[in-house]
Amino acid sequence: MKRRVAILISGRGSNMAALIQAARAQDFPAEIVVVISNRADAGGLALAVQNGVATAIVESKPFGRDRAAFEAQVQSVLDEHRVELICLAGFMRLLTAEFVQRWHGRMLNIHPSLLPSFPGIDPARQALAAGVKISGATVHFVIPETDAGPIVMQGAVPVAEDDTPETLAARILKVEHRIYPDALRLLASGGIRLAGNICRTTGSIDHGQRLISPAPR
Ligand code: GAR
Repeated sequence: MKRRVAILISGRGSNMAALIQAARAQDFPAEIVVVISNRADAGGLALAVQNGVATAIVESKPFGRDRAAFEAQVQSVLDEHRVELICLAGFMRLLTAEFVQRWHGRMLNIHPSLLPSFPGIDPARQALAAGVKISGATVHFVIPETDAGPIVMQGAVPVAEDDTPETLAARILKVEHRIYPDALRLLASGGIRLAGNICRTTGSIDHGQRLISPAPR
């Protein structure tokens, strides 16, 4: 049985699209049963519709600071669709500790940096300001702290001398689209075990892989 997945978005939805695309494969262990946006103007909503995926809009703005009331509405959509796993994909709304706890071990997020470096806003700009030579993306389980939690999968990219936050973010986005479906596959197929703050996986390492940046002359 395929695991039933909801994707929560706030914007353009390119990671959502990558997950929907991957889940089309017959052997993919999960199906995307609903996309929920907290913004009516999220570009990803149209993309989801085009792909034949059910959508729901639960606008967060009218709820103001009452995050619990907003989440109660989200939860009712999740119940309606009998959702088992959640993927946050550019979902820019903080969740309460209660909601996060309820979905403990069943909710993933993707963040465009090699966590625990550069959580929060504009991680590509943060990476350039720190002068790192390698950056990337992280899929992790959601815990109450923002952009933290047991790491499921990471993908690395080199940072170029002439990168701007935009060019680096675009390079990282490509790796996001690669690792998010792979991480969901791992979770949905039972290849993940949580041991406290550490995520143990059945994934193997590629012993031939090296990323050195800048490339030596
Ligand atoms: C992605 O880069 C995602 O990693 C980031 O928002 C972007 C959403 O793009 N998420 C965060 O920064 C979470 N802290 P998308 O809507 O095209 O997937």
